[in-house]
Amino acid sequence: MKQATAALTSFEAALDSGDSATYAHCQRTASIAVILGRCLGLSQDLLLTLERGVFLHDIGKVHIPERLLKKSGLLEETEWKVMRGHAVTGYAMLSSNVALTDVAAIVLAHHERYDGTGYPHRLEGEDIPFGARVCAVADCFDMLTAADRAYCRAMTVSEAWTYVRSQQGRHFDPVVVDAFLSIAPAQWRRFHAEWSEPQLRRLDWSNVRRPSLDDVSADSFDKISAKVVACSGAS
Ligand SMILES: [Fe+2]
Ligand SMILES: [Fe+2]
Repeated sequence: MKQATAALTSFEAALDSGDSATYAHCQRTASIAVILGRCLGLSQDLLLTLERGVFLHDIGKVHIPERLLKKSGLLEETEWKVMRGHAVTGYAMLSSNVALTDVAAIVLAHHERYDGTGYPHRLEGEDIPFGARVCAVADCFDMLTAADRAYCRAMTVSEAWTYVRSQQGRHFDPVVVDAFLSIAPAQWRRFHAEWSEPQLRRLDWSNVRRPSLDDVSADSFDKISAKVVACSGAS
């Protein structure tokens, strides 16, 4: 456990020393994922794995040149290849630590798509680790609404909420989308406003510290948790 915590702390420092937009994106995405995980009824242990994996989902970007991360125009195909490599690179960084196996699985698969058109392995449906399916929704919602995208205007929270709904069963796991949609755009907007300032606090790697169930309506929790009995884990 101590070994895992030390490794996680050093990975966070690596992320923090790189591109600040990526670090803030990882913070917000982890917050969104934990809210979804609570709606999905995940245990505290699974939530902790989910938070760690989602926070580190883009850790592989520390090896991508800054000029690519900050490029204002559309990327060339060769540049996209380099960008897409971050999932495998991130996995390689984490997977040698056996205590981080489930965390690494989320990192590797966070760009897989439920319909099998994602990368790096074109996994489909429930072949994609559950935590990565949660990460995919959180990652996309944050990317769409982030204020600092250089090549495209940010969507409003309502626009992004509608987009996520449109991708149910395509890009995203239907059950995870149900959890997302159980929270109304107005409530997501409130969360979003709270996160507009990057939360630059260090994580406590031994505890989930992000939004509590009190932040999510009990109604959302009841509706969704019944649907996820079959979800065996966040790995
Ligand atoms: Fe990514
Ligand atoms: Fe991301």
